[in-house]
Amino acid sequence: MIKKFSSRRDFFGAALSLAAAPAALADAPRRDAPPLKSLTNAPMGCSTNLVALKDPAYAALLLRNFSQVTPEYEMKMNPITHTDGRLNFTLADNFMGFARQNRLRVHATTLVWYKHQPPYFMGLDGKGQVFADAYRNYLLTVVGRYRGQVVGWDVVNEPVWTDGTRLRDSLWSSNLGAEDYMVLAFEYAKQADPNAVLFINEFDLERLPRKRATFLNLVERLLKRGAKIDGIGTQSHVNINLPQGASTLTMRDLAALGLKIHVSELDVSLGRADRDNRSMDDKLKLQSAKAWEVVDAFMNLPASQRYALTMWGLMDKNTWLRQLPGREHDEPLAFYDDGQPKPMFWAMADRLKTR
Ligand code: XIL
Repeated sequence: MIKKFSSRRDFFGAALSLAAAPAALADAPRRDAPPLKSLTNAPMGCSTNLVALKDPAYAALLLRNFSQVTPEYEMKMNPITHTDGRLNFTLADNFMGFARQNRLRVHATTLVWYKHQPPYFMGLDGKGQVFADAYRNYLLTVVGRYRGQVVGWDVVNEPVWTDGTRLRDSLWSSNLGAEDYMVLAFEYAKQADPNAVLFINEFDLERLPRKRATFLNLVERLLKRGAKIDGIGTQSHVNINLPQGASTLTMRDLAALGLKIHVSELDVSLGRADRDNRSMDDKLKLQSAKAWEVVDAFMNLPASQRYALTMWGLMDKNTWLRQLPGREHDEPLAFYDDGQPKPMFWAMADRLKTR
């Protein structure tokens, strides 16, 4: 059983609060925990989706803490592309509507990703003009539709092979060229929304120095070729065993190019419980320390490079990790399933408010 403490005061008064009425307990964090977004000028983001947003308690916690949202699914290529090639913006428009009503900034993801290869594109002759035209049309239409309404886009997501040794093969790379598909994507995105901040986004940059090097070399080559890359997204799906200092070092390497930095998908996995017998208390302490370091590295950037710090999910029950085999019980986020802030929340809050 996990202990839940909504604030330091509750931590010490735990025995007392057990006697309190459930309604009072549920109210406590909302009084005591400062909204994350109130602690810093940097945009604080959270990924979300239209299904989760139907729950009013979820939406309230999200709006209280975050000033920016990333659609977890709604603006990706598969949901937007019909099998006959027409583009369907129902989900994306609904998502944008929620953001507009609530005055949230939107960071959109993702334009080109190897995991989204819609059947329509797969059915085209990859070397023919129709494929190249459909690619161009997709990018110009999607980015153009939300021009001026999103702050930025992940233009290319996860371009490096999982282990970091080389670039990733995909429908896009094999049909349009290993790096040409990226140069084209940035060109079309810039054309369609000149003011959007355009990102190249990658994961495991903290854990795998070789992947970081492959990624940064790629970014430099793309910039030399004229790609209008404005920012680097570091997903930061880290876990409690990440060596101390890895996030700090990574941030320094990434920031050296002078581009904006987005901590784009932060979560701190506790790993598989069945393979780790450390106590939950110890794991939550490690989780807090990792999250603190990421926030610290981000806050140490020059203000002009701080695009946003985004959590990949709100409460533990919302995490994407639970969709992965063996990870059904992971608790990688800053809020417990009932909305109470976790020790990780307090670690992040502490570092955010320190200048
Ligand atoms: C994930 C979503 O969170 C899931 O709901 C969905 O099933 C799959 O995609 N890296 C990314 C994100 O760039 O877009 C992924 O989001 C998580 C990993």
